[in-house]
Amino acid sequence: MQRNKKIKVMRQFTYFGHSCFMIEIASKKLLFDPFITPNELAKNIDITSIRPDYIFISHGHEDHIADAVTIAKNSGAKCISNYEIFVWLQKNGVENGHPMNTGGQWAFDFGKVKCTEAVHSSSFPDGTYAGNPMGFVITSNDGDSFYYSGDTALTLNMQLTGEEFSLSFAVLPIGDNFTMGIEDAVKAAKLLKVKKVIGVHFDTFGFIKIDHQAALEKFKAAGLELLLPEIGKSYQI
Ligand code: NI
Ligand code: MN
Repeated sequence: MQRNKKIKVMRQFTYFGHSCFMIEIASKKLLFDPFITPNELAKNIDITSIRPDYIFISHGHEDHIADAVTIAKNSGAKCISNYEIFVWLQKNGVENGHPMNTGGQWAFDFGKVKCTEAVHSSSFPDGTYAGNPMGFVITSNDGDSFYYSGDTALTLNMQLTGEEFSLSFAVLPIGDNFTMGIEDAVKAAKLLKVKKVIGVHFDTFGFIKIDHQAALEKFKAAGLELLLPEIGKSYQI
């Protein structure tokens, strides 16, 4: 794929807690990793009001998939995931899915999706195999790209993603313990060649509580911008 020129496009980003967020692209609403009703911090979010056109699921862990079936059925959204999650969704009555796998790319009506490697694990809430975890690069029809890594460790493969795409921003886990922490997220931003990072996968439970001020300062010291979104809020990014 051709490396895109940097284009300044403002996008609406809405945060629903943990790693769940919605981004609007080409008049389509893209929801990522729906985990809302089990999240005590997100108890004011009404999931019946969330009507995406697409749902992206990075891996099978409960904290990324808990509300996927409900929201998919409420909205009729197309679910984009690995093959194993696609099959699981069908077994749970969600017919509108698109199976992909690591390294693969597909053109949808809003733009292109490329699945990236995530260094993590992936099983369904009942413990069964859920395929490999993934991240996604989304390139809208206007040429603007962003990256959501999913749950992952820092990996040198991020350098390839940074070389292939001109990313406007990256959505990265920063809570440590189960994924990258702040120091590794700073290194990831450098490999990805992004100046702007939206932090997710923090504060939801005890193992991933972070010091917000320290996190913001570490990014600032590296010449980077970190957004720590508030649950229920929308941002122009
Ligand atoms: Ni996980
Ligand atoms: Mn997780």
